[in-house]
Amino acid sequence: MELSELIKTCRTFRRFTQEPVPQEVIREALDNARLGSSGANLQPLYYYAVTKQETVRAMQPLVKWAKALPPELGTPKEGEQPTAFIVIVKKANAIAFADVDVGIAVHTIALSAWSHGIGSCIMGAINIPKIRELLSVPEEDQIRLVVALGRPAHTSTLVPLEEGRSTDYYLDEDRNYYVPKRAFEDVVHFA
Ligand SMILES: Cc1cc2nc3c(=O)[nH]c(=O)nc-3n(C[C@H](O)[C@H](O)[C@H](O)COP(=O)(O)O)c2cc1C
Repeated sequence: MELSELIKTCRTFRRFTQEPVPQEVIREALDNARLGSSGANLQPLYYYAVTKQETVRAMQPLVKWAKALPPELGTPKEGEQPTAFIVIVKKANAIAFADVDVGIAVHTIALSAWSHGIGSCIMGAINIPKIRELLSVPEEDQIRLVVALGRPAHTSTLVPLEEGRSTDYYLDEDRNYYVPKRAFEDVVHFA
């Protein structure tokens, strides 16, 4: 897939088939993240690849889905849940720019996975204490984001954000997503 097409189609997915995410896809995504740009090249991030069935199952209740939707629509049901997770952790005493590193890493992971047809949901609404306990993440380090992964079981379409309307995403009757985006002219200034 050409780069722009990859970026445009790499959307948030919240329902998945139950086929496992190939281990090589996860390894490649994390290797790409490892090699990404890093403020002062300090490389303050590390990752947990959650792929063991039992641990994946334990992660499911520790992430919160789709703030803009009622849970019965936005939360994946049994049989729709992600089949793997990646947890991004920032080491203690990281510099302020480390959060930029987190952003670069998470999008690298999402795009890498999507280049193999694996969809993702970046998740910030997460139960940090419980995830820390489950994965034995050292107390001094900061769990920043989770990425849910799986082969998508719905579509997601970008639509123009209409004047005066909310940026909230919405669903059709088949629970396919529509995601409003601001117009190019509204966000880009040539100077
Ligand atoms: C930093 C960040 C945190 C997010 N946290 C959550 C989350 O906790 N739960 C969720 O369902 N989606 C979460 N999302 C997904 C956003 O809702 C999604 O990116 C947005 O609706 C736009 O959809 P798109 O990714 O397809 O463009 C998060 C996205 C980002 C970038």
